[in-house]
Amino acid sequence: MTRQILVIGSGGREHAICWKLAQSAHVDKIYCAPGNGGTAQTAKTENVAIPVMDFKALIAFAKKHKIDMTVVGPDNPLAEGIVDAFEAESLRIFGPTRQAAQLESSKVFAKQFMAQHKLPTARFGVFDTKKTALAFCKANDWARVIKVDGLALGKGVYVCDTLPECETALVEIFQAKRFGTAGAQVIIEERLYGPEISLMILSDGKTLLPFASSQDYKRRLDGNKGPNTGGMGAFSPVPCYPDYQWAIHEKILEPLQKALQEADFTYKGVLYAGLLIHDHQPYLLEFNARFGDPETQCLLPRLETDLFELFEACIDGMLDRQQLTWIHETCACVVLVANTYPETGSSGKYITIGKLPEDVTVFHAGTSQNEQGDLLTNGGRILNVVAKGMSSDHAVHQAYEAISHIAFEGMAYRKDIARDASLCLSY
Ligand code: AMP
Ligand code: GLY
Repeated sequence: MTRQILVIGSGGREHAICWKLAQSAHVDKIYCAPGNGGTAQTAKTENVAIPVMDFKALIAFAKKHKIDMTVVGPDNPLAEGIVDAFEAESLRIFGPTRQAAQLESSKVFAKQFMAQHKLPTARFGVFDTKKTALAFCKANDWARVIKVDGLALGKGVYVCDTLPECETALVEIFQAKRFGTAGAQVIIEERLYGPEISLMILSDGKTLLPFASSQDYKRRLDGNKGPNTGGMGAFSPVPCYPDYQWAIHEKILEPLQKALQEADFTYKGVLYAGLLIHDHQPYLLEFNARFGDPETQCLLPRLETDLFELFEACIDGMLDRQQLTWIHETCACVVLVANTYPETGSSGKYITIGKLPEDVTVFHAGTSQNEQGDLLTNGGRILNVVAKGMSSDHAVHQAYEAISHIAFEGMAYRKDIARDASLCLSY
């Protein structure tokens, strides 16, 4: 029996998910809502012009087209309960419920969950006024990271060096109300130092199945300078991951599995653990309730296992019967952005993609396709150039070689992705 799938989202992550699902013999047809210029060209895939937050229209579409499984990419629909809405209509969907997705949508919920289950994380306090928050920073010279509770498009974390920087952040949050209600509460936590590792974990509520390790680059400019972005590049695997793998298993994955079994929600979907290695020990910085972007673009080309079967196993609580297999090569992803990103994006500029080296896949993020089939820019992050190689150096060399065959007006990208991957630094 072949299946019809609905993938929700329009970024590079969703293009990679459609691309991988299309390789499954179980999958007959994929609809991507709303999709992008890349999903429009992916095998078995067709775009549907429904916005990700229009649950009513998505449900109506799923019923009309007899969709067998819906897969949710971005955080917002999960936080707003898209899984609950689909399940209430007896529609199969891959992703956590609204309650479970609070592990991402509320940093207070996530930190309290970590503390309650003794998962290693930075020590912290929770505050709802500037006065009490600032007093905590003054009283504790380790308390230099300020995080707003709610979703903030990746901008709600202030990593400060000094007390005056903390004060400026607290003024923005509590007085200027930069984040609205998402900033009604803050976490203030210890600043940790060390390399970060992204670990995506499949969960059916009982069994956890971690993906391969990856690392992303958040800052806009080379040398990790400039403003934070949605992600400028990534690579997988992380060369030093084996050094910490046992500690991560023992200190994070085992207690996390127990914590999820004991929780009063069932976590089905992907749980993204943002880890930081501080003093040679792994700490949980954050959870995301979804696949990471752009890490997913480096992971799925390395995954040999059938992605549809994995999603099915999560939904059905049968993940204990699955295992993941990976190709040995490294994947590196370089994100091509508009030179005005992250302030603004680009739209309507023609994109040309010439002949690319073998082992290179281009996942689209902010692109659209016009009626003539031309590819046009449509966002801040435009394309993800993903290359495989025998080492991270080789992979990224291939990615940059491919980029020399790609052009659009105002194209910009970081030149140092994966350059120091083997050093296991912090980005
Ligand atoms: P989060 O959304 O919590 O992952 O934070 C975003 C980024 O802020 C992380 O990827 C880290 O680079 C940084 N960060 C968060 N928490 C801390 C911390 N306790 N110490 C140092 N850096 C942090
Ligand atoms: N790459 C980090 C994220 O997806 O949130």
